[in-house]
Amino acid sequence: MITTRPFGTTADGTSVTCFRLENAAGAWVEVLDYGCILRAVAVPDRAGALRDVCLGFDTVAEYQENHQGYLGAMVGRCANRIRDARFTLDGREYVLAANERPNHLHGGDRGFDQYVWDHSIEGDTVVFSRTSPDGEEGYPGTLKVRVSYTLTEDNALRLVLEGESDADTVVNLTSHAYWNLNGHGAGGVGSHTLSIDAIALTELGADNCPNGTIASVVGTPFDLRTACPLEAGWDADHPQIRQGGGYDHNWVLRGSGLHRAAVLAAPESGITLSLSTTQPGLQVYTGNFLPETAGKGGARYAPRCGVAMEAQGFPNAMNLPGFPSVVLRAGERYHQEIIFAFGHN
Ligand code: GLA
Repeated sequence: MITTRPFGTTADGTSVTCFRLENAAGAWVEVLDYGCILRAVAVPDRAGALRDVCLGFDTVAEYQENHQGYLGAMVGRCANRIRDARFTLDGREYVLAANERPNHLHGGDRGFDQYVWDHSIEGDTVVFSRTSPDGEEGYPGTLKVRVSYTLTEDNALRLVLEGESDADTVVNLTSHAYWNLNGHGAGGVGSHTLSIDAIALTELGADNCPNGTIASVVGTPFDLRTACPLEAGWDADHPQIRQGGGYDHNWVLRGSGLHRAAVLAAPESGITLSLSTTQPGLQVYTGNFLPETAGKGGARYAPRCGVAMEAQGFPNAMNLPGFPSVVLRAGERYHQEIIFAFGHN
């Protein structure tokens, strides 16, 4: 069942709508047409009580003021960093907004997270769409994108990300939701355990962009093939951990097609989150630089009070030919899926 309610307006006066998706079991999710933001996900803990496990805000103004945290947002046209905010495609160099100097991050000064999208309701699915004009933030091609959210009866949230362009371009969309499986206002996520189906990660250079090296995780704090508490690794004495200020890295996923990539679990609540995706990479960001802010209902947010699991193409792929391509050719279809499946133990 999907219901809607007004969610205020943006600073320039555009109306924002909140969509509430609820299943027969009583689990519910809220998404906004502003930035396709996932603002709440209420799922049962092991005692059967619903907990909202997704960080978010109560007003559009707070999303706009805190946009650099990308809470719950759909990030695009290209998630993560592009070194020196430039790339070459079909022999031509494109210069992008250098919103994280000297790099381009998460789509630029005004990425997809900062627009009100068109919407439609198709059965149990909310569909958001927008047309990103040729040249937006420096990217070539008029790109039509469509993002849909469906809450299943077994407490899985399915995101389908689609796009089509009239010229060769770059597309790499992801959801930037932060999770705290004890409840969004429950404090640090250090005791959460995380497993990732990967034996390698893309090594970061001093500029926080992957340098092209695919590094083995074996014997490092990045080996999460067996679930580990986040706090066991995020302050480890390892050069890559120091570079990211904790976990803020892209793992090279082993599976192909729609595959299970990671499982996050909170011992206290018993809530588990299993992430499946068609994407080749998983950026895990342990909120190392989340500012001290008031979140929904006056909850106190601070560094490391949530963890983002961003299924995506590899960062800086446009400048590293050995990485899987994030180019979308004119007339071809972009199609990716991310499934957040909730359970408890
Ligand atoms: C990604 C980046 C982080 C940070 C967050 C948003 O995870 O890798 O460094 O920019 O997004 O704040």
